[in-house]
Amino acid sequence: MSAPLAHIVAMGENGVIGRGQALPFRLPSDLKRFKALTWGKPLLMGRQTFLSIGRPLPGRISVVVSGDPAFTVPEGVRLARSLPEALALAAQAMGEMGADEVMVIGGRRVFADTLPLTARVHLTKVHLSPEGDVILPPYDPALWREVAHEGPLQGPGDEAPFTYVTLERRADA
Ligand SMILES: NC(=O)c1ccc[n+]([C@@H]2O[C@H](COP(=O)([O-])OP(=O)(O)OC[C@H]3O[C@@H](n4cnc5c(N)ncnc54)[C@H](OP(=O)(O)O)[C@@H]3O)[C@@H](O)[C@H]2O)c1
Repeated sequence: MSAPLAHIVAMGENGVIGRGQALPFRLPSDLKRFKALTWGKPLLMGRQTFLSIGRPLPGRISVVVSGDPAFTVPEGVRLARSLPEALALAAQAMGEMGADEVMVIGGRRVFADTLPLTARVHLTKVHLSPEGDVILPPYDPALWREVAHEGPLQGPGDEAPFTYVTLERRADA
């Protein structure tokens, strides 16, 4: 069974999404939105992203992919050894939760490998060019259509303004 996938990603104007294991910007408003959009859904992530979060997130089922046989996860987290296995575990979790999509939450390799299978992107465009070494290419407007746009916004404690954009894959892409 293949599940609908959505990316959820916050990206600087220079494509930077991470610095080492950490996020390259401080945006409490975006973290709140992340929680709201992912609540009740399975999360698919790579090992580094799981380690940077450091715990299973409540109200969601975490599926972590790692090819390292020595890597283990805490109870409650589901571990896959390959992307196909991760997709199968995420689809199973989606069924258990009664959810309608799997949220792909990073990092770079997982975003890249799942891109062809992904129908929707929840993109936070951060109006900043932070330093960082984890970089994604832009979502190509020839393939992706903007269906929602909110901002620029900046809440208390947010390091920079940002715009929420929802992208959907073009029918012919
Ligand atoms: N701004 C954002 O929205 C956002 C979101 C998420 C993460 N981030 C940032 O991104 C960075 C982490 O991302 P990252 O790209 O370094 O790492 P990552 O994608 O989270 O994890 C990479 C690891 O996941 C495993 N993996 C990924 N794809 C796999 C596959 N197809 N098969 C088997 N294993 C696979 C591998 O683990 P093994 O080496 O164990 O095999 C790989 O080394 C951090 O800086 C984080 O803060 C930013």
